[in-house]
Amino acid sequence: MNQSLFGLPKVELHVHLEGTIRREILEKIGRRNNTLPVKETGAFLERIYRSGGDLSSFLRRFAAVCHHLRSPIDFYLAARDYGKQLSRQGVLYAEIHLSVQIFTRRGIPLQPILSAVDEAFEEAYRESGLMLRLILDGVRQWGPGSMLELVEMAEGTRRWKVVGIGLGGDENSFPAESFREAFRAARDRGWKTTVHAGEAGGPDSVRDAVEILKVDRIGHGVRAAGDPSVLDLLARCQIPIDLCPTSQRETGAVAKNDIYPLRTFLDRGIPVTIGSDDPALFQTDLTNELSWLQGHCGLSPEDLVRVERNGLEAIFCEPEVRRRLGAIFHAGIRSWQRNRTD
Ligand code: ADE
Ligand code: ZN
Repeated sequence: MNQSLFGLPKVELHVHLEGTIRREILEKIGRRNNTLPVKETGAFLERIYRSGGDLSSFLRRFAAVCHHLRSPIDFYLAARDYGKQLSRQGVLYAEIHLSVQIFTRRGIPLQPILSAVDEAFEEAYRESGLMLRLILDGVRQWGPGSMLELVEMAEGTRRWKVVGIGLGGDENSFPAESFREAFRAARDRGWKTTVHAGEAGGPDSVRDAVEILKVDRIGHGVRAAGDPSVLDLLARCQIPIDLCPTSQRETGAVAKNDIYPLRTFLDRGIPVTIGSDDPALFQTDLTNELSWLQGHCGLSPEDLVRVERNGLEAIFCEPEVRRRLGAIFHAGIRSWQRNRTD
């Protein structure tokens, strides 16, 4: 790993627990649950972990991972393994999305899942000081009623380190307007909110996320680069966007031959954060995303500090954690700046 990036204090705000599950962990889970085919397991897993295709085919691979998660220990194993991956990369804090309704709809109760994830989060903190929090993610193609159910379901989950409510899935299924009420309800109950927008949808979807859903942060947002008026809106309202370069290039949100528009956002003063989205399914991790941006978009040491500071400022967690994290983060940045070798 790039030594210089390792020492940089990092914040990961856009990642899905289901998409962090490495092949060997999924195999272990699937074997225990008897959900893997007895014959040709290797080829079966190969299809899940093989990249390529558009957002719809990616979402099918994501669903295929979810199919094997059946009991709380599966979520514990996933969260424990991912915590170790983050610690190895020098990440200080992460907010991890979990599409809980995929599992509750199958009859797995919410509380044991959250409690299992919480146990893994606690162990990661005791082991390495890594702070982990959850965002409960709705499934866009299941519509506004399902999103309202998620807001109801989220009541009382703060004690399991839930810090926000999000919405992922197929961006072209339902327009933002249909979720206006659900996002208002989430805000009224004191939740921070985020939505995947400007990934499969165009710049208008990003505008709607700001103006209609009034979110605190936007997942992806990359298609806003195509409309200067939406870029101005993001800059004026200082809405953070989580750019996930590998994911966006793999799903076609950004064409592989196009110049990746990182600088378009940075130069306008939009608070960009960098995420890995589904690192196991896109064969990446946060360090690799930063390294790729260094190589392809001229991400300088100053830009690196800026995107990580943007991340710190965009976190959803409670003020006490934010204060503690801020002190560690700033000391880490000073040390990184002193010790940098490049
Ligand atoms: N769920 C997991 N990854 C996602 C993505 N990139 N877009 C929408 N929903 C997702
Ligand atoms: Zn995502």
